[in-house]
Amino acid sequence: MKIKKVTKAVFPVAGMGTRFLPATKSIPKEIMTLVDRPLIQYAIDEARAAGIKDFIFVTSRGKSALEDYFDHSPELETALKRAGKTDLLEILKSTNMDSGAIAYVRQNRAMGLGHAVWCARKLVGDEPFAVLLPDDVIAAEKPCLQQMVEAYAETGGNMVAAMEVAPHRTSSYGVLDIDQDNGMIVRAKGMVEKPKPQEAPSNLAVIGRYILSPKIMTNLNKMKQGAGGEIQLTDAIAEEAASGKVFGYRFRGQRYDCGSKAGFLQATVAFGLSRPDLCEEFGAYLHDMMALQKAAQ
Ligand code: G1P
Repeated sequence: MKIKKVTKAVFPVAGMGTRFLPATKSIPKEIMTLVDRPLIQYAIDEARAAGIKDFIFVTSRGKSALEDYFDHSPELETALKRAGKTDLLEILKSTNMDSGAIAYVRQNRAMGLGHAVWCARKLVGDEPFAVLLPDDVIAAEKPCLQQMVEAYAETGGNMVAAMEVAPHRTSSYGVLDIDQDNGMIVRAKGMVEKPKPQEAPSNLAVIGRYILSPKIMTNLNKMKQGAGGEIQLTDAIAEEAASGKVFGYRFRGQRYDCGSKAGFLQATVAFGLSRPDLCEEFGAYLHDMMALQKAAQ
């Protein structure tokens, strides 16, 4: 079986980010900063490491700061060059995208994740493609999507990142109905979006990384409403499960739910501590904070 390489990725970034109001009143949530990089940068870097060449953003009104972020900034570059700040210049350059590498499509109405992905259908064309949800930040030695691309080279079909969650949390995730469990790779016979714990087929949840066949776009064309009255990506993928073409991939790494405040704070601590330039000072501060809290108890 010849499996086509995955070179296109879709980033659904049209959401309003209401959970982070008032911060998201004037900035897209994907621009919110984890240590010193916007959330979206982590997803872009992960996609690049996995061999993605074409980046497709599904945006909406009020997201122009995202487009500006990926543009070159000649004034800033000149100023840094003049000041001899080559280290900052390098950091800045690492965020630049080649002309034509990013495309933007608009989702005019908020109709769900499946609908957002469907908005990219013309740019995706007849090729397998990745989807990355920037809210899910994954710290891993080998970036998660790269792990998946390697596994997908063996399986083909459709692959979703998967992780065991506490059974009472299934209603926040897409959940896999497991057919065959081979450890890292699981064959699914179904997928359910946000099932109640008592109705969940397992506690193996979908995390926001996908490698999908173009057939998913055909399934999304049907515009079937699912959980919450929205067009769900999970449902379009589930349609392929009967033919044995849906796989879950238990990635190696730590996932942070940066779509929630607690998750964002956890990610901030973890990423802060993992930075050689910050860990000593920040670690000492956290240590003192904990000691103070214990003393106060
Ligand atoms: C989306 C998907 C869900 C998946 C989750 C992972 O839900 O619909 O299947 O498990 O992302 O983060 P959302 O969190 O956007 O409601």
